[in-house]
Amino acid sequence: MSEYVVELKNAVKRFPGVLALNQMHLAVKPGEILGLIGENGAGKSTLIKVLTGVHQPDEGEIYVNGEKKVFRNPNDSAAAGIACVYQELNIEKLLSITDNIFINKWIKGPGGLLDYNAMHAKAKEVMASLGQDVDPTKAAGTFGMGVQQMIEIAKAVLIDAKMIIMDEPTSSLGEKEVEQLMRTCRDLKSRGIGIVFVSHKLEELFELCDRVTVIRDGQYIDTRDISGWDNDSLITAMVGRSLDNQFPKEFGVKSAQPMLKVSGLMEAGVLNNVSFEAYGGQILGFAGLVGAGRTETMRAIFGADPIDGGSIEIKGQAMQIRSPRQAINAGIAFLTEDRKGQGLVLAESIRNNLILANLKGFANGPFLNTKKIEEEGQKNISSLRIKTPSIDEIVGQLSGGNQQKVVIGKWVNTESDIFIFDEPTRGIDVGAKVEVYNVMNSLVKAGKCVIMVSSEMPEILGMSDRVIVMRGGEVMADVDRDSKHFNQESLMKAAWGGKLDD
Ligand SMILES: Nc1ncnc2c1ncn2[C@@H]1O[C@H](COP(=O)(O)OP(=O)(O)OP(=O)(O)O)[C@@H](O)[C@H]1O
Ligand SMILES: [Mg+2]
Repeated sequence: MSEYVVELKNAVKRFPGVLALNQMHLAVKPGEILGLIGENGAGKSTLIKVLTGVHQPDEGEIYVNGEKKVFRNPNDSAAAGIACVYQELNIEKLLSITDNIFINKWIKGPGGLLDYNAMHAKAKEVMASLGQDVDPTKAAGTFGMGVQQMIEIAKAVLIDAKMIIMDEPTSSLGEKEVEQLMRTCRDLKSRGIGIVFVSHKLEELFELCDRVTVIRDGQYIDTRDISGWDNDSLITAMVGRSLDNQFPKEFGVKSAQPMLKVSGLMEAGVLNNVSFEAYGGQILGFAGLVGAGRTETMRAIFGADPIDGGSIEIKGQAMQIRSPRQAINAGIAFLTEDRKGQGLVLAESIRNNLILANLKGFANGPFLNTKKIEEEGQKNISSLRIKTPSIDEIVGQLSGGNQQKVVIGKWVNTESDIFIFDEPTRGIDVGAKVEVYNVMNSLVKAGKCVIMVSSEMPEILGMSDRVIVMRGGEVMADVDRDSKHFNQESLMKAAWGGKLDD
């Protein structure tokens, strides 16, 4: 018997123009939580897909409880007890929770009829064991991401998985949901299940994991007990150099007049009298807990949701923005939180996605200016360090984090004055965040107005010139960088509803 429940040895995986895995190793013990970390495009998701039979390795072996296995497809891997919650969830939103859990594994009664009573009862029981008290007859899509993820975990529990892999499970969850997921992970661990936990958030790894494996550029770098790692050693192992400054804040020149003035924005049950001013040459951070109304505020400004009252001025001019098209024409760019859904055409090349938000700017009369597209595109790829074999790569084949960098490039390529970035570094590795911040720096230095919604306090404090804190659809505080309240404690206090003294 092996001490490992699953072991991957010497795995090699090639894609056209990319050596995604090169002599890769991963070994997971039963009842442990193994963190897996590496830069965007390092090969984490590919490694996982080799273990789940989605990809066949060009070389290498997989062992389950010491026994060599070959996975021709995901069913083979599931039969061996390996389950996965993918970066993109596999949930059929229109089907019930029960249907999602029992897809392909229907419980049948006498005569082969589907036994829905039994399935609903079992679904309810498994979800409850994961801390979710839900009605399993309801459509999965009516629940939030936290519940949808638990549906995937419930599937894993039901096939009696020996190992469950979670690929960036927390990147789309609020803090309550993250806590629940961590409890669930610890519970699965205590049942002897091995867990592989992928995350770009170092604090999560330190909180949850027993050991952490680092990979870089498709290669295995190191595995240590959690006590053998700290922030610096993890970052150095990941990016191959140390990062002396995680937040390279630079300052622009604040515009005399506000670039954007929002007054008394109302949206029934969502926003209550939201007012603020944002200036050119500055980053205005929006802090708050998930559900505080930050994204809703931005969507209202962008004309994506109808408002019940309030007004917007851009450079002193009143604007009636009723649609995103009008917002773009008025000089607003909006990098949405839901990148996959709204940001990219996955079947198109990087080149074509990068020009999508500014076709006019890339045209030469009635024709596309191919020279400009090539030049600007190559600039985007190098300034954001988008990892790709070429500018013509199909976006859907890039790693998750690199897809997000393409969305950022797409918006930066517009000639907008106001850039709204909603959770711009979510899913982006620690090293690459610096590149995103530098892109913001150059916008600010060019006199643009940057609004950054972020749930990461260090990023808010590291990069903002001013911070607005929201809670329950209202503005709670407006704090300047040189105020005594420009610190985590005060901002969190406001986010929880506390008043800040003067
Ligand atoms: N189906 C595919 N076709 C071609 N190339 C691919 C495919 N899948 C992944 N790659 C490439 O393999 C490399 C590793 O990608 P992978 O998705 O494993 O990275 P990752 O570590 O999960 O990154 P992220 O943190 O951004 O999710 C990347 O260069 C990616 O572009
Ligand atoms: Mg990935």
